[in-house]
Amino acid sequence: MDSIGFDDINPSEMTDVLEINITKTTDSKLPEVDMDNIAFGRAYSDHMFIADYEDGEWKNSRIIPYRNLSISPANAALHYAQSIFEGLKAYRTQDGDIATFRADENARRMRSSAIRMCMPAVPEELFLEAIYELVNLDRDWVPSTDGSSLYIRPFQFAMDPYIGIRPAQKYTFMVISGPVGQYYTEPVKVKIETEYARAMPGGVGAAKTAGNYAAALYPAKRAQDEGYHQLIWTDAHTHKYIEESGTMNIMFVIDGMLVTPQTSDTILAGITRASAIELAKDWGMIVEERRIKVTEIIEAMEQGRLQEAFGIGTAATVSQISVINHEGIDYELPSGESCEISNKLLKSLTDIRLGRVPDKFGWMHKI
Ligand code: COI
Repeated sequence: MDSIGFDDINPSEMTDVLEINITKTTDSKLPEVDMDNIAFGRAYSDHMFIADYEDGEWKNSRIIPYRNLSISPANAALHYAQSIFEGLKAYRTQDGDIATFRADENARRMRSSAIRMCMPAVPEELFLEAIYELVNLDRDWVPSTDGSSLYIRPFQFAMDPYIGIRPAQKYTFMVISGPVGQYYTEPVKVKIETEYARAMPGGVGAAKTAGNYAAALYPAKRAQDEGYHQLIWTDAHTHKYIEESGTMNIMFVIDGMLVTPQTSDTILAGITRASAIELAKDWGMIVEERRIKVTEIIEAMEQGRLQEAFGIGTAATVSQISVINHEGIDYELPSGESCEISNKLLKSLTDIRLGRVPDKFGWMHKI
């Protein structure tokens, strides 16, 4: 997709914005955090990165102590959701180093989200520099307990104090981070959604944009009220094809093959999803990325050919699915140690991230 109205910035003209002005906190909140009991998304590290887009260029990059923002009540992002984000993690490796996982892929995905939402893309160099500097400054915040990491949230939003409809002219790019544990602390129960839709062809389902998550809240809440953790979204037109789970992509093991919906303009192209596919192919497994009919999954469950189902994402890591509900029927699935592929994927990803095995794919970046 071509960018509309915003010229890309030549990296050689970006020397100023790559020089980050740093103001350190004098009042670290780290002693207040119980690193042995970290929930997802509750604690934020001491500093945050900010850069402004104004007059056609990114400028004024700075890291300052984490604090509230001051925003015009007419802020365009608040009214019209011109807002995008990313999620990635930094890990404390077994040698005590700090390393991020595939941040360059997040930079690329944020760029495509920006183009779709008619926003100027953050140059990859700025995106990476912001993350690496922030993580370096807050490196003591990277936890070392099992299953934990530092979650990094880059995000960009319109800053015009203007309630007419148009692409904003001013934007803010920020990065915050915080220690996290598991997003799902138990195998997840999901319900196949056949009434509401998350995304439609030609829409913004493939962009990591705020409104996609807001639109999912109501249907997801209805499922949660019935005892499910999440939905499995289906295509908007027929509700016959499996798409994704909203907080994660979805994968199945059927007859020994790894089967997952192919990405499209209605599905987020997950970086953990892509990594799992690469790993599985590397093990010699047959991987099918294709359209998956709901009826195929139901039949495979009924015939005992569906060996595993799991969600996969940065926050969710690899989350086994123990129940799939479809039109009032709960189908119970194996979960726990018997699930060879999801456990092997989680272990392989964890081993690479914690430096327990060589990083043969070149996915880690040491800070
Ligand atoms: C992520 O996995 O990083 C996401 O952005 C999903 C969100 C549910 C936390």
